[in-house]
Amino acid sequence: MTHAAPYPPFALPQRTLRVGAAATAPSDAGAVGHIVFDGEAPEARTGLSAERAAALGFTGKSGQTLVLTSAEGPVDVLVGGGDADALTTTVLRDLASHLARAVPSQEKLALVLPRADVPTAEAAAAALEGASLARYVYRIGEDGPEARLASLDLIVGEDAVDDARAGLARGLEIVKAAKLARDLAGTPGGILTATKLAGVAAELCPQAGLEVEIFDEQALIELGCGGLLGINLGSVEPPAMIKMVYRPEGEPTGKLTLVGKGIMYDAGGLALKPGDEVHATMKNDMTGAAAILGAMTALRALGCRAQVTGYLMCTDNMPSGSALRLGDIVVMRGGKTVEVINTDAEGRMVMADALVLATEEPVDAIIDIATLTGAAMRALGTEIAAVMGNNTGLLDQVKTAAERVDEPVWELPLAHRYRAELNSPIADLRNLGGVNAGSITAALFLEEFVAGKPWVHIDIAGTAQSGAAKKWINHGPTGFGARLLIDVALNFRAE
Ligand code: BES
Ligand code: ZN
Ligand code: MN
Repeated sequence: MTHAAPYPPFALPQRTLRVGAAATAPSDAGAVGHIVFDGEAPEARTGLSAERAAALGFTGKSGQTLVLTSAEGPVDVLVGGGDADALTTTVLRDLASHLARAVPSQEKLALVLPRADVPTAEAAAAALEGASLARYVYRIGEDGPEARLASLDLIVGEDAVDDARAGLARGLEIVKAAKLARDLAGTPGGILTATKLAGVAAELCPQAGLEVEIFDEQALIELGCGGLLGINLGSVEPPAMIKMVYRPEGEPTGKLTLVGKGIMYDAGGLALKPGDEVHATMKNDMTGAAAILGAMTALRALGCRAQVTGYLMCTDNMPSGSALRLGDIVVMRGGKTVEVINTDAEGRMVMADALVLATEEPVDAIIDIATLTGAAMRALGTEIAAVMGNNTGLLDQVKTAAERVDEPVWELPLAHRYRAELNSPIADLRNLGGVNAGSITAALFLEEFVAGKPWVHIDIAGTAQSGAAKKWINHGPTGFGARLLIDVALNFRAE
């Protein structure tokens, strides 16, 4: 067990965020945002002429903000909306984030929702996501003072009030899911152990209407999960496999299984990582698991009609006298043997057991999500996740969802021409390909365990963490995948 003494106690932040929609701003609003499109005069709403605004550096270009001074009443904020014809939910999410950042000391925000082709409910949810996620800063047990958002009120036409309220209610669920993923990914590995994460799931799942089952070391031995057990060998912390099931009311429209990498801290095992700063981010090597947990807690409230099962594969990856050796052979769930060439290629090992378990139940599609390879970050940077899969329809579902929630993905080829790099002379597979195309060979390894079922792999090694604040992302954990998976689940259809 981890020695508790030096650590702050583990606690998830408790947040209260009030939302509302009405035809006028509430009297307690601290700041009111007005979206002004390129070439539009701000005059009608704020009394400021276009010339005066331009003299102050504001022309309505997307990303610009201008905070107006006034002796009393709420602070008016002009938010540049860019091209009025290009207004989408993605743009609205961004604009709301600009408002939240323009007046960081204001805890009570209001925003005049512009009339657009976007359905009001979707626009309202996106605005809430943008403002609220932009104010997220990881801090253990509470939000930082820079991050507080007490309320968001949307100002809409009388006829749109009900739709806006409905959208805000959905937005609250989505934001809660994304923030949970960020909180969990931000919590250091010594504090959030596999056992602690299992405790979080055990507490949150019943509240969210999910079945939850925790598989401890003994249960994993009985299941023959040699990948997860093997990676756990070096740790004094026990492993945990968390299985969650969401069953919709009525006949499910399809069955989807999600598999998440839950490496609580990735030291590399005996293939120890160097002590550079990147490796201080390896506490987030469970972002895939966190994204699934976050997403699944929102499904019932959002009325998901598919059945969704989640497997979170949790352990840390530590070096020690009992750790897996380079060259060891382990037996995975289902009986395949793997020669462990590199203990730092641990994600694929823990995921494989769950992929096999997923195929053993009735399932229409499997999606896995993992901070799997540094190569994905090299190829696509920190804003785009890599996707690969064996089914174009399912890939399309993921790509469409990614676009809707603005968690971008790009497909890399699942190139079977590289498959031979995983051949081992002494086992069924080795866990390492050649020096190149590391994201592809990692995906090819996973594919060996899905038994031909429709499957998509999402590599979020680059997108799990941001080095800088931008729009609704801040420095630190992004929770990438939580909103994406919610959208996939809500729109899921069997291929
Ligand atoms: N968790 C890492 C991947 C990673 C690297 C995520 C950088 C975020 C930033 C993974 O377990 C790992 O160590 N991958 C190795 C694989 C290699 C040994 C084949 C890598 O990418 O170097
Ligand atoms: Zn890892
Ligand atoms: Mn690793």
